[in-house]
Amino acid sequence: MTHPSSPLSLETQAVHAGREVLHEQGVHAMPIDLSSTYPVQDLDEGGRSLEAMAMGGLPIGSPVYARLYNPTVARYEQALAQLEGAEECVAFGSGMAAVTASLMAAKQRGNHIVAVRPLYGGTDHLLASGMLGLEVTWAEADGIAAALRPDTAMVIVETPANPTLALLDLDDVIRQAGKVPVLVDNTFATPILQNPIQQGATLVLHSATKFLGGHGDVLAGLVATNHDWATELRKVRVITGNVLHPLAAYLLHRSLPTLPLRVRAQQAGAQVIAERLANHPAVSAVYFPGLPGQDPKGLLGRQMKGPGSLMAFELVGGFEAASVVMSEVKLMTPAVSLGSVDTLIQHPAALTHRVVNAEAREHAGVSQSLMRLSVGLEGPDDLWADLEQALVKAMARTATHA
Ligand SMILES: Cc1ncc(COP(=O)(O)O)c(C=O)c1O
Repeated sequence: MTHPSSPLSLETQAVHAGREVLHEQGVHAMPIDLSSTYPVQDLDEGGRSLEAMAMGGLPIGSPVYARLYNPTVARYEQALAQLEGAEECVAFGSGMAAVTASLMAAKQRGNHIVAVRPLYGGTDHLLASGMLGLEVTWAEADGIAAALRPDTAMVIVETPANPTLALLDLDDVIRQAGKVPVLVDNTFATPILQNPIQQGATLVLHSATKFLGGHGDVLAGLVATNHDWATELRKVRVITGNVLHPLAAYLLHRSLPTLPLRVRAQQAGAQVIAERLANHPAVSAVYFPGLPGQDPKGLLGRQMKGPGSLMAFELVGGFEAASVVMSEVKLMTPAVSLGSVDTLIQHPAALTHRVVNAEAREHAGVSQSLMRLSVGLEGPDDLWADLEQALVKAMARTATHA
């Protein structure tokens, strides 16, 4: 398929990226290649192809074996690279597999990582566990430069951060990091709202389980980056076997055309809910970049095209009130994960961030009264009616116990 030479809109790219070859193949929907092995009729060429892929390259003939390469996955990788404005993209079996592979690739360059809290609980857990043999310095946002060492291989940040929605100024992070590659977890913003590579980030990571999948039925991870890092990441993937299944890649690619629509519609609903939460007596604080005063660095418009559809809020009644909300919501699903077409609510300190050191967790703002809400595509009035009845019950029950 030929495209006009002017840059295509994000909407058009979301519909067509990675599908260009389908026209030549004479098909309309994406073929799913489920082969676990591939014929090697020319032994010399097959051997060279295997060697190229073992070194993180692409096949030069037969793909040989599905742990080394899969065309369904490769088409989706190409699409995401395009949307993130990256040279290449590498897909993994989960977001945590993508984090692990990124750290293993970084370890080839140095043994020290600088990270800014809060991060997703699993990422924090992996870094704090010492399991990969990396030394980690936890820095405040303005202390990244001071935390760097000659052997620092990577700076890791999340913005908006899970679960507090804390925002980082990526221009400042990248300036502080200097020559050290910066990995930005872009799961909350998606490529629709934020493109860290354009600001100078080297690696952009997604738990594609979230908005990119969007329907709560896929587990996947992605890293969009330059050719050299992608080569290292593919090498790690071949060795460790953290591959994405082609059926999952198909579902992700099928969800891509609606990504811009979903992100914007969910964001519009979130704005309504955040404003109402901010005026509810059961709620002591709401964290949502779209509320007045919550973007002091002016990142909306400069770094992010919108606030997204995640928010966090604190309950006057603390953990007890949060427990009531979790058990009383009827339309919202009380569950971890986010970015789905349906609304999910959860308690980070008890669930997603339970594995984080308690003191560090509190310091990063993940208190016992904090809940996280991922707004879906339902009508905002229906969502609010559901949440409000749960908040009223939480107030009544915690007042009785006071
Ligand atoms: C910001 C962020 N990064 C990474 C991950 C890990 O992704 P996965 O659950 O797909 O392994 C998550 C999961 O919640 C997340 O929210």
